[in-house]
Amino acid sequence: MILVLGGAGYIGSHVAKLLRKRNIPHVIADNLEKGHRSACGESAFVQVDIRDANDIHDCVSSLKPEGVMHFASYISVGESMKQPDNYIANNFGGSKNLLNAMAETGVKKIIFSSSAAVYGEPDEIPISEDHTMNPTNTYGQTKKDVEELLQDFGSRNLVRSVSLRYFNAAGADPEGELGEDHRPEEHLIPIAIDAAVGRRSELTVFGNDYETKDGSCIRDYVHVMDLAEAHLLAWESLEDETRLPVRTYNLGSENGFSVFEVIEVVEQVTGLKVPYKIGERREGDPATFVASC
Ligand code: UFG
Repeated sequence: MILVLGGAGYIGSHVAKLLRKRNIPHVIADNLEKGHRSACGESAFVQVDIRDANDIHDCVSSLKPEGVMHFASYISVGESMKQPDNYIANNFGGSKNLLNAMAETGVKKIIFSSSAAVYGEPDEIPISEDHTMNPTNTYGQTKKDVEELLQDFGSRNLVRSVSLRYFNAAGADPEGELGEDHRPEEHLIPIAIDAAVGRRSELTVFGNDYETKDGSCIRDYVHVMDLAEAHLLAWESLEDETRLPVRTYNLGSENGFSVFEVIEVVEQVTGLKVPYKIGERREGDPATFVASC
């Protein structure tokens, strides 16, 4: 059985749905602060907060999972700069509690949701896994710190791990049961769609004076169902004990699209105009971010 921590959130809920479809035994655990109980479908569910060391220890020791997929994390780059302590306590402190609980109960496998934010301002594009890690925000720093913790637990033979560094997760369950539901929403694609259908008055394009083909930022958008498939492959690879005990992979599409290109596609798909204005650059936004996977 796999413990899916943070399985009520955007990426976790899509992965859990794939586990249901493939009949892979699992239990979703989430504190429901950001996640949605309604996104858990028929999966077994327990409410747990990883910031509470006893709570997560009890959860792991009573369920005795074969391993953990760990999605439970705050995800807003901007917020992480305003509330660094919360991000450190939840993303890093919570992960440390989880790893201690795993080590104490002999649970040896974990897939960790890392992020391209570990790299910081890129020196070269596309960005490969051995690019230096120099995060420019607290969110990225917490992901880097957890990766280092995994390295430590791996070198002590306590936990085998795969860290998956997501680029820009996008899209939704093609069956329409799940989707992206962040409150507040800060990501480009849902905001562009909301603007097209009139749920918000307009989209602000954060800067049109970058050194890119049309002046707007370029990102690597990867479909959430592709991320879900990647988790299942990573899980299979963890079963193979001849593989290195600590591994890291970029998850992107290796294609870059500009903000204006995203707007154009939203217009094509919806048949509606996306009202937008040009705003200031958003602090900390690199011009181009594309993965080498
Ligand atoms: N953008 C706008 N207007 C908006 C929102 C976004 O122009 O209202 C632009 C951004 O400037 C950026 C692009 O659209 O160029 C994508 O922005 P998102 O906020 O959707 O995503 P980010 O690239 O900022 O962040 C994503 C993940 C983070 C992760 C980061 C790693 O959401 O969790 O990639 O690079 F840390």
